[in-house]
Amino acid sequence: MNYNIAVLPGDGIGPEIIEQAKKAITAVGKKFNHTFNFNHGFVGAIAIDKTGSPFPAETFELCKSSDAVLFGAIGDPKYDNNPAAKIRPEQGLLAMRKDLGLYANVRPVTTFTALLGKSPLKKEIVEGVDIMMIRELTGGIYFGKPQGRSEDGNTAYDSCAYSRYEIERIVRLACECAMKRSKKVTVVDKANVLATSRLWRETAAEIARDYKEITMDFMFVDNAAMQLIQFPKKFDVIATENMFWDILSDEASVLTGSLGLLPSASVGTYTSVFEPIHGSYPQAAGKNIANPLGTILSAAMMFELAFNLKKEAEAIRTAVEKSIDAGFVTEDLNRSDPKSTSAVGDWIADYILGN
Ligand code: IPM
Ligand code: MN
Repeated sequence: MNYNIAVLPGDGIGPEIIEQAKKAITAVGKKFNHTFNFNHGFVGAIAIDKTGSPFPAETFELCKSSDAVLFGAIGDPKYDNNPAAKIRPEQGLLAMRKDLGLYANVRPVTTFTALLGKSPLKKEIVEGVDIMMIRELTGGIYFGKPQGRSEDGNTAYDSCAYSRYEIERIVRLACECAMKRSKKVTVVDKANVLATSRLWRETAAEIARDYKEITMDFMFVDNAAMQLIQFPKKFDVIATENMFWDILSDEASVLTGSLGLLPSASVGTYTSVFEPIHGSYPQAAGKNIANPLGTILSAAMMFELAFNLKKEAEAIRTAVEKSIDAGFVTEDLNRSDPKSTSAVGDWIADYILGN
């Protein structure tokens, strides 16, 4: 088959890690006889530099007309240190989510046996962890209006709003996902304080009635933050709103030993977007040291979810596992004998082709 992939490397280490995913995808194409066409676009700080907009119209069109989007990372310290900047790279990511209707982000958190020692948590706690974290991605405080400053500049405000419809579709997705797993959904909220959380709870409980086999429980976000590192094996599918999930899923990455390892998929109305969970890691940009595995594993998710190519996805996952078993990994995972970003990409592409 022939697939068109929109490639948005973005900022910082984005271009380097995306290159490695492209190598793995091309290797899969050769091995399984598919053609993958890569069409590049700009998003983030680089897009602001080139076009003045963090998510230019050309990029939006490219994404819409592609079969899937592979995305690296965005963010640049020149904006982080300038709170007054009117146009910011992150707006590009938020616009991409909103314009493509990507209302759900799916982030699997699993551990690799060879890396159990890398987590700061005890092996008994993390071994066998398998959580699916589902994030509402286009609502809540990230997009709520009004947002801004009072006239005198001394007060700032954000708004958090959720409609029943937005909650329903995400909770349904979580339930569908749980039906293929251990049939347990934990809805995380702050219903003891927030009105939006109370609507989440009410709506989720209604949806649960359609899924008799599913056990649904509710947890306050502060408690969830604690339980996630104390008893991570208690969780199967976690569904929550935009901001809570943003915080909890970075926390969950600690379970696996490195933020560089986790992939994600954003799905919704138009083309799905596949991206690692980490940011643009500007300190490492251009140094060929960043871990490309999260991006390569995002390509595996792309094969499975966007193209329904399961064997191909498995070929990538196996190659990643083998590179970890062989210790052929970047410095975040192997301090004593680190390999470069591009060497890891080559190793994985070779493994796919040779096996
Ligand atoms: C993420 C990131 C983004 C978010 C930032 C870069 C806007 O942290 O994808 O988790 O907060 O959603
Ligand atoms: Mn985040």
